[in-house]
Amino acid sequence: MLKYVIRGGRPLHGEINISGAKNAAVAILPATLLVDGPVRIENIPQISDVTLILEILRELGASVNTINRSTMEIDCSTVNRTSVSYELSRQIRASYYFIGALLSRFGQAQVAMPGGCDLGARPIDLHLKGFRALGANVEEKNGFVYATTPEGGLRGRRIYMDLVSVGATMNVMMAAVFARGTTIIENVAKEPHIVDLANFINSMGGHVMGAGTDIIRVRGVASLRGGTYSIIPDQIEAGTYMTAVAAAGGSVRIRNIIPKHLDCITNKLTEMGVQVEEEGDDLIVTRIGPMHHTNIKTMPYPGFPTDMQSQIAVCLCLAEGTSLITEGIWENRYRYTDELKRMGAQIQVDGKVAVIEGVSRLTGAPVRACDLRAGAAMVVAGLAAEGVTEVEHIHYVERGYEDIVGKLRGVGADIELVDEPEKPQRRQSKANVG
Ligand code: UD1
Repeated sequence: MLKYVIRGGRPLHGEINISGAKNAAVAILPATLLVDGPVRIENIPQISDVTLILEILRELGASVNTINRSTMEIDCSTVNRTSVSYELSRQIRASYYFIGALLSRFGQAQVAMPGGCDLGARPIDLHLKGFRALGANVEEKNGFVYATTPEGGLRGRRIYMDLVSVGATMNVMMAAVFARGTTIIENVAKEPHIVDLANFINSMGGHVMGAGTDIIRVRGVASLRGGTYSIIPDQIEAGTYMTAVAAAGGSVRIRNIIPKHLDCITNKLTEMGVQVEEEGDDLIVTRIGPMHHTNIKTMPYPGFPTDMQSQIAVCLCLAEGTSLITEGIWENRYRYTDELKRMGAQIQVDGKVAVIEGVSRLTGAPVRACDLRAGAAMVVAGLAAEGVTEVEHIHYVERGYEDIVGKLRGVGADIELVDEPEKPQRRQSKANVG
């Protein structure tokens, strides 16, 4: 059993380099299916979600070559399948992007319903509604989605999204790349990775306008050609390290980011008394004195990201006074609070609201990662806590954070990855969890 062992209570000092954005990579890599000829993608994060997406591309018949640590050359001209197996699809939420990409390029897709972190109900009805609006025949049967284009291909249409959805926006954008005429998608998500996918498609010869606003227009083109594209830095990875510095104290330069993408996190930390200075592509985060309480509501971009909710909650646990968090996106995103309580946090959850009473310190304890970002929050808590914290179920964390142990050790954290045989009593508590 792999786990992180953290001896907390040490302020962090130094520099952390931010990797490419997970949520951009897991969309742009499937989007290479749209391109004729080899594509070179740079700044790909080395995380297990990316490994899975590359495995799916290989399963489809694509040629995937590693150029260096973060650069891959992908050639989809050898693709000879249009179905993604249940085995791979169930392991990752972003496997839904293969529906849009395969449908768009090959006129058919058969993809098992996606898996991923359990944050409550995670339907994909808006994705399927968008494909149907473009003229696709879409059926859900035996745990699979079957989608085909009609004779003559997909047709551009005006589509209004009932809800703001990151995945549906990107998926319908991919499906529309070769549709005849113009597709107008309204009430879309505006996250940085949506702009990144649009930029990728445009750099290969596509025509996507308006990404980053409420309305995206996609003018259908005949084909996309190969080229080179570099993925944006990861907003959530950067935000997680910002909260780590806030919680543990110290001063760290967060390098190679787009500071604008971090505005909502910077503003909240500043309100709490953390110092955040912008210098070119870097942010310098410093926390010396006490932190103050605040209220947070998670919302679609440019609001406070739901994927940062659990990490900032750790800071609020250590801030003076009472703070409120309202989760505005997912219905089941507070399971980590029981783990934080084991470390001395005082949190009451009622539906979508968490009330946090600040405490003067957290204490180390054995805890588990309930999902990717909850796992990151356990690491942040462990860095701030007195004593030893052992974080189990870290495969969740490895899904989205490249070399988290190395990066934190680089700023003075005492954290190690330990492989230990499972103890009988821990097996017992794990059995109780299910
Ligand atoms: C993406 C991110 C995830 C993040 C989330 C919100 C990826 C791989 N994952 O997930 O980390 O937490 O955005 O920022 O990029 N909904 C529907 N029907 C649909 C689609 C969504 O009802 O067809 C609802 C969801 O249940 C949720 C809300 O819309 O309540 C937003 O979900 P969405 O933005 O689609 O999240 P994902 O793209 O799955």
